[in-house]
Amino acid sequence: MRILIVGSGGREHALAWKLGQSPEKPEIFIAPGNGGTALEGTNLPLADTGDVGKIMEIVKERKIDLLIPAPELPLVNGVADACAAAGVPCFGPKAAAARLEGSKAFAKELLRETGTPTADFAVFTDYGQARRYVESLPLPPVIKADGLAAGKGVIVPENHEEALGVLHSMLIDKSFGPAGGKVVIEEALQGQEVSLLAFCGEGRIIPMPSAQDHKRAYDADKGPNTGGMGAYSPAPILPENDLADMAGRFLKPVLDGMEKRGCPFSGVLYAGLMLTGQGPKVLEFNVRFGDPECQPLLMRCTGDLLPLVAACAAGRLDRAPEPEWSPETAICVVIAARGYPGAYSKGMPVGGIAEAEASSPGKVKVFHAGTGIEGGELKASGGRILGVTALGEDLRAARNRAYAAAKNIRLPESFFRTDIGSKGIAGCDQ
Ligand code: AMP
Ligand code: GLY
Repeated sequence: MRILIVGSGGREHALAWKLGQSPEKPEIFIAPGNGGTALEGTNLPLADTGDVGKIMEIVKERKIDLLIPAPELPLVNGVADACAAAGVPCFGPKAAAARLEGSKAFAKELLRETGTPTADFAVFTDYGQARRYVESLPLPPVIKADGLAAGKGVIVPENHEEALGVLHSMLIDKSFGPAGGKVVIEEALQGQEVSLLAFCGEGRIIPMPSAQDHKRAYDADKGPNTGGMGAYSPAPILPENDLADMAGRFLKPVLDGMEKRGCPFSGVLYAGLMLTGQGPKVLEFNVRFGDPECQPLLMRCTGDLLPLVAACAAGRLDRAPEPEWSPETAICVVIAARGYPGAYSKGMPVGGIAEAEASSPGKVKVFHAGTGIEGGELKASGGRILGVTALGEDLRAARNRAYAAAKNIRLPESFFRTDIGSKGIAGCDQ
C-alpha cells in the first residue's frame, strides 16, 4: 500500500512513524514533510499544503492508495472531494463537512441548532452593528475570524477597547483577509480546556483517550496563543469512563446534524471543550488530528493503526477494528524557536536527538516539526521545531522522563514550557 501524508509538522511525523510500524509495511510519502519524516519515508516537494491540484498530481504520479491530509487547509479546500472523484480513499472529510473547522459561524450555528452546549454568540459582517453589540455586553467577549487564520484568528481581549480594536482590524482594515470578513463574537468562558478526538464515519464514533493541549507560549498560560506548546494524554480531568458519554453529548448531535444536511462527516473530529462551572461547552471543532495532541495519542496507540485509518477512508468505519491504547500516560514537550509565535529564529543546528531517545530506550520519541536537512545537517526551519514525547506509568513519570530527555537536545535560540502536564498533576493531587 502506498500512503501519502500531506503536511510538515510533528503530527505528520507521528503519523508517518506510527503507520510505518504496520505489519502491512506500507510505502510512505510525506509532502512536504520535515527532517524527521525523511527518516520514516520519502519526502516530496509541496510548496502549499492547500494546493489540491498539486496534491492530486502527486497522488496520480506516485499511484497513492491512501491519502492522509493532516492539516485542515487541504480538507477545507476540497482534497477529499478530489480524491472521491479520482477513486482514491482519503482519510478526512469532504469540503462541505470540513466547514465545521473552515467556518466558525457554520460550526456555531450547527451547535445552536442541535442544542449542543457552547458559548453564547452572534455573527456579524458589518462593523457598526458588531461594535454596538460589543458595547452592549457587560464583559469583553472573545472575537473570532470566521475562516481559517492559521491559528491566529481567535482573540481573547482584556477589555472592550481592545475588543473594538480587533473588530476594526478584522472588518474594516481586513487584516485577516477574507477569513475575517465575517466575525463570531462570543461569550468568554472560564475553565480548563480538554481535547476530545474521535474517529467518525458511517454512524460510528470511536473516541480516542482524552488529551490536554497547552496553547499559550509561556509557563502558567502566559503569553500569546500558539499552535500548542505541549500536550499529554490521558487528561485526568476527562477520564476514560466519561469518554463515551462525552462523545454522545458533544460529537453525536453535530455528526447527526451534518448527516441531515446532506454532508456526512468522516475522519477525525476534534472538539475543543471548556469545562466550565455550568458543565462542558464546545469551544471549537477541528476536522483532523490536533498537533501536538496527535504525538502523545499515537505514542499510546499500541495496535496497528493502518486498518482503522484505511477503513475510515474507504467509508467502512462501521467494520473497522477498535484501536488499542496503552494504559500509560504520554506527554509531549514542544521545543520552539525563540520569538515563536511571532517572527522567530531559523537555521540553528539541531543536535542531541539520539541521546534524548537513548535516555529512556523505547519510552522516548522525538518528533520533528520545523526541521529540515541543509547541506547534510539538521537545521531548524519552523516555529515549533521538535516535540520530545515520553511514556510513563503516570503523568508525573511521563513528565519527568520527557523533561530529562529534553535536556539532551542541543538547539540554540530555542525555548520550551517547563510546566507541561502540571495542571493534570495538580488535579491528581487534589
Ligand atoms: P479556538 O481556535 O476557537 O479553539 O480558540 C483558540 C483558543 O482561544 C482556545 O483554545 C481557547 O483557549 C481560547 N478561546 C476560544 N473561545 C473561547 C471562549 N469562548 N472563551 C474563552 N476562551 C476561548
Ligand atoms: N492543538 C490544537 C490544534 O491542533 O488545533
